[in-house]
This record gives sequence, C-alpha cells and structure tokens, in this order.
Amino acid sequence: MQRGAAVAARMATATGPLPARGASLTAWETEGAAVAWDEAGVIVYVGSAEALPWPATIGDRGRGCLIPGFVDCHVHLPFYGWRADEFEARLRGISYAELHGSEGGIFRSSRLLNGASDDEVLAFCRPLLGEMLRHGTTALELKTGYGLGLDAELRQARLARRLGDEADQTCTVTLLACHAVPEGMKRDDWVRTACGELIPAAASEGLVDAVDIYVEDIAFSLDDLEAVADAAAAAGLPLRVHADQLGSTGATTASVRLGARSADHLNHCGDDGVAALGSATATVAGLLPASSFFLRAGLPPAEALRDAGAAIAIATDFNPGTSPICSMPEAIAMAATLYGLPPLEALTAATANPAWVLGLHDRLGTLEVGKRADLVLLDEPAFAQVPYRPGHDPVTAVLVGGMLAG
Ligand code: NIG
Ligand code: FE
Repeated sequence: MQRGAAVAARMATATGPLPARGASLTAWETEGAAVAWDEAGVIVYVGSAEALPWPATIGDRGRGCLIPGFVDCHVHLPFYGWRADEFEARLRGISYAELHGSEGGIFRSSRLLNGASDDEVLAFCRPLLGEMLRHGTTALELKTGYGLGLDAELRQARLARRLGDEADQTCTVTLLACHAVPEGMKRDDWVRTACGELIPAAASEGLVDAVDIYVEDIAFSLDDLEAVADAAAAAGLPLRVHADQLGSTGATTASVRLGARSADHLNHCGDDGVAALGSATATVAGLLPASSFFLRAGLPPAEALRDAGAAIAIATDFNPGTSPICSMPEAIAMAATLYGLPPLEALTAATANPAWVLGLHDRLGTLEVGKRADLVLLDEPAFAQVPYRPGHDPVTAVLVGGMLAG
C-alpha cells in the first residue's frame, strides 16, 4: 500500500453526529478540495490543496468533486439468475403479489439459488459487485433470504461472507431470516425454526452482522417481528425490517419501538410511522426509490419524514424481483425526483447514514481524518449533477482504502 492524495475543484461530505437528521442531513460542500491518506489507506488530511502533506496522486484542482464512496445498506445479493419475464408479466398487469402467490418471485429465486453450485453463485455475483464498485459503491450489505430453509439460509450466509471477504468493498451480511415461508412449511413452524435454530446458528458461526424480516400480509406478521427481534437481541445482532412496502401493517412503528437500526421501504407507513421515525433515536428511515419506481408503487411519505426530522438512508434494494438496479447514482436520482430530496441531503443519505445503519460509521461514510480513504471522484464540481443527470455515469474514479479500483 502506498500513501496518496486526491484533489478536485470541490468536495462534499456529511459531517457531525450520526445518523444525520433535520438540518444536519445536508452535506457540507466546499470549493477547493484535497484529501490525503497514509500507507494504511486511512485519511490523514482533509482541506485545501495548498496544505497537502504530499503531492496529489489523482485528480485535478480545476475539475470534479470528491465525495465519500457510496454505502448501499439494502442489497439482496447473493442471488442467482434474473426474473425479466416477471417484469414483463407485471407490465401486462400481473401484480408482484400474484407472481409471489404462483410460486414465482422470492420462491423462484430460492429455487434458482438452491439449484446452483457455490462456484456458480459466486461467479454470477462477482461481476455484479464489480458493477456496483464502478458506480461508486465502496461499502454494502449482503442479505440472505433466498435460501428458505435452515441449511439453505446458512449456506447463503456462508456464500455472502465469502463474497464479502473477497470483494474490494467493505461488506456486511444480514440474515433475512424471514423472507417467505418455505414451501411445504407452516408459517409458525418456520418462525420457530428461524428464531430457535437459524439465528443462533448463524450468530455462533459468526456468519452475520444483523437480522432482517419481511413484514407484509404475503409474508410475516407483527407477532413474527416480535419473535425475530427477541431472537436477534438474544444473539447480540441488530435488527432491520422490511416495513410497510406493499401495504400497511404497522411494522414501521413496531420497528422503532423494537430499536431496529432501520425500517425500510415505508411506502405505506402512514402518519404513525412518520411520527415514530421522526422521534426515533435509533432507527433510520430506509428509502428504496428504485423498487418504488420499478413496481410503480405508491411513494413513501418522504417529505413528511424529512419534516418530522427522521434520519434518512437511500439504498438500491438490488434484487432480481423488485429492483434489478445496483447503481447508487441512479437510486439518488430517483430519490431526488420522486421524493423531492435535495441533492446534498441525498448525499448524506447515500453515504454517512447508511454507514451508520450497517454499523460501519466509525470507519467510513464521510471524508474525515481517521476514516478509510473510500473516495469517489465525480466528473462535475457540483454534486447536484448526479441526480440531475440520471443515466449519465458521473464517476471518474473510485478509491477503496486509498487504492484505485478497477
Ligand atoms: O425488498 N420485499 C421483499 N423483498 C425484496 C424483493 C425480493 C424479490 O422479489 O426477490 C424487496 O423488495
Ligand atoms: Fe429488500
């Protein structure tokens, strides 16, 4: 490893206590920018180019913008295979829930994953992580939830850990213990197995960093959420929740009460959910605009959440069903236009706040001395160009721990 430094016309980064909310959601943007890092890939200087401790190794003082690498805190990799025919079926008017009910959807991805060898799954996923990196994602979550069985979920968690360990990015693994009820099983029996066996086994093998559950009328109930929250707490793992995505269940309010690190989706979280997230100290509102767009779903009350003072994160929800989109710049563009999120708030919601959700905020997510040199160099000085030009690739260079990626 070598020490280095980057310069650009501008820099933008979140600062201050996390998760950021209210006025502090707006990232700080400044003219003239330089960041230097040491041999360990840790930032040692942030400031003007004149005072850099050593010469710049990348960038141009007259061009571009330096930002922290994107942190994608809601990702359904590893999966195996696509479901483009379901996308076409939805365009013909068949709903996501109908596809799920006819053993497509999550069940289909489960059959595809479980029918593939470890090598096949890893070979499918590696280029996708590469694609995410080229779009500026330097840290991300990997989730299980397509195993749908005790051994199959543990296998998916092991594959996720392997994928994460060999990836250039920093990866955490979340056990989506309750995503769909395994075929041939009763819901209660699966929840008992998930809580009594799966979560403890995954925790004791050190395979996962958090536990997630999909609360929905086609999936799991509020009682199941309570049980999974208890099992996660007993295993010492933080809780994440898929909450109020397709319909209203009260999962957002329950997530806040149970101290989940995030309640994600929120399309139908209602006034109660907004109020709960607005006053939550430990729960971030996870907005997944790509899945709202792709499902042509009703939008979450993003402006009300901002007004209520909720801490907000944006993620891709990358998965073959509801969001085959792995680009954080695209997710940011959708969040800005669909949710009225100002660009510099979107930046914090795509870097520092998701780092907090994943428990990585001490190490990454902002441009600050002591953090990893995970940097993205954008082609234009103003960060607002990112949401302004969806489809354009704004990323000139990506550095992970000070190393040029790709
Ligand atoms: O976050 N809603 C549940 N889970 C995923 C979709 C999974 C799938 O369709 O494969 C989501 O949207
Ligand atoms: Fe999801």
